[in-house]
Amino acid sequence: MSQHIINLIYLLAATLFMIGIKYLSSPDTAKKGNFLSMIGMGAAIGATLAAPEINGFTLIIGGIIIGTVIGAYIAIKVKMTAMPQMVGLLNGCGGAASALVGLAEFQSNSTGFTPFTLITLLLSLIIGGLTFTGSLMAYAKLQGLIPSRPVTYRGQQAINGIIVLATAALSWLVFRDSTNILAISGVLVFSLGLGVLAVIPIGGADMPVIICLLNAYSGLAVSMTGFALSNNALIITGSLVGASGIFLTKIMCDAMNRSLANVLFSAFGKVDESAAASGEPPTGTMKGVEIEDVATILANAGTLIIVPGYGMAAAQAQHATRELADYLGEQGVEVRYAIHPVAGRMPGHMNVLLAEADVSYDQLFAMEDINDDFAATDVVLVIGANDVVNPAAKTNPGSPIYGMPVLDVEKARTVIVLKRSLNVGFAGIENELFYMDNTRMLFGDARASLQKLLAALKK
Ligand code: TAP
Repeated sequence: MSQHIINLIYLLAATLFMIGIKYLSSPDTAKKGNFLSMIGMGAAIGATLAAPEINGFTLIIGGIIIGTVIGAYIAIKVKMTAMPQMVGLLNGCGGAASALVGLAEFQSNSTGFTPFTLITLLLSLIIGGLTFTGSLMAYAKLQGLIPSRPVTYRGQQAINGIIVLATAALSWLVFRDSTNILAISGVLVFSLGLGVLAVIPIGGADMPVIICLLNAYSGLAVSMTGFALSNNALIITGSLVGASGIFLTKIMCDAMNRSLANVLFSAFGKVDESAAASGEPPTGTMKGVEIEDVATILANAGTLIIVPGYGMAAAQAQHATRELADYLGEQGVEVRYAIHPVAGRMPGHMNVLLAEADVSYDQLFAMEDINDDFAATDVVLVIGANDVVNPAAKTNPGSPIYGMPVLDVEKARTVIVLKRSLNVGFAGIENELFYMDNTRMLFGDARASLQKLLAALKK
């Protein structure tokens, strides 16, 4: 196939990727977006295989079969709650692929590089290497293979700084002499080490942000490889992944009111300093409530807003939530869901779970679209949410979440909170909502409580 036609197909593939990303921004078009991106990827792979430089298919077909079987198996088996670590693993594969292509190029053409190609090759080696090991660490933390707490030690930043400088020095040696195998190996080893050392001080709960950042890095590594190989598909796709990963990282940081530097360097959640920073424990009296009382409150409500959080995911209570909401809807209660952008532990976590339970999209409202409505709402059912409904974000300048936009649930007439105990959430801080006059605490696993509630309502 001529290079012109290949480039045309690459352009078509890139267009499909962009339309696909656009469609992914809404739950009702997300499937179509995925499908279009798959077609784009298929077209790009097909065009690459038809390139004149490809002179043997045995290894390629073997690789495709092995990769397809492993990929399909993982995708079919993965649980929805394990999605962040799966994305992490796939980012790692992207980084490893870029680093391997970089190495192969150094080996095959070690003297004939232009300075530009050399720089891009070095970058794909460095960024690809650190993305690989960083992603493996993120995967291992989320999968519970290693402790998820932040690992910090004295001089950590200085040691990381020295490794960065050493990598830069070795890269300079490679730039001067691209046959210097020792320096090339050194660049790779230090980059792999940097990936590990940069991720270990970050707590498990911050891993979704890190995975988005590593996603951006893997895109960057791919586009560097594209420049080195003069391959337009890799350049465009890598840039798309890099840019969207950076945007997603920023959106997540903004929604948590934390800077990226704070996520990367603060070892958030390591010690309970955050709880101390939040000041005095909340005043007021915590009021527990029984299932039958909650059933009565719900049966008499005209309007209900459900606020799901990480606890709903942990309890796998999305189906029980939908069943209760449907029943109340049939009884004439107006039911809506308020979705906080960082409720749960991954972007779109609540949307994905509620979609899986067949909750209609038009019942889901983003925080900014529903926050003004709480004051006119009879009942709010907080299902396993904590930080995203913590008024301290608005009232306590000493709190680690001060400034984070939160749902104004306390303005509703009655707030029912479903959780197992008075335990803190991700940010490790007390929640004065639990002690407010209009709040009632329904303790227990969220799924079990919802099932009992539905049974009590039906009685
Ligand atoms: P959290 O503040 O983490 O609170 C979740 C609550 O769920 C806990 O207090 C826990 O209390 C309860 N829970 C756990 N298992 C439960 C079960 N089986 N049944 C009932 N309740 C259960 O959750 P949130 O309000 O969704 O806030 C999310 C937090 O994660 C935010 O601080 C956010 O910044 C952070 N974060 C989010 C993301 C993304 S992208 N979503 C990424 C990184 C960090 P008990 O133990 O007492 O039950």
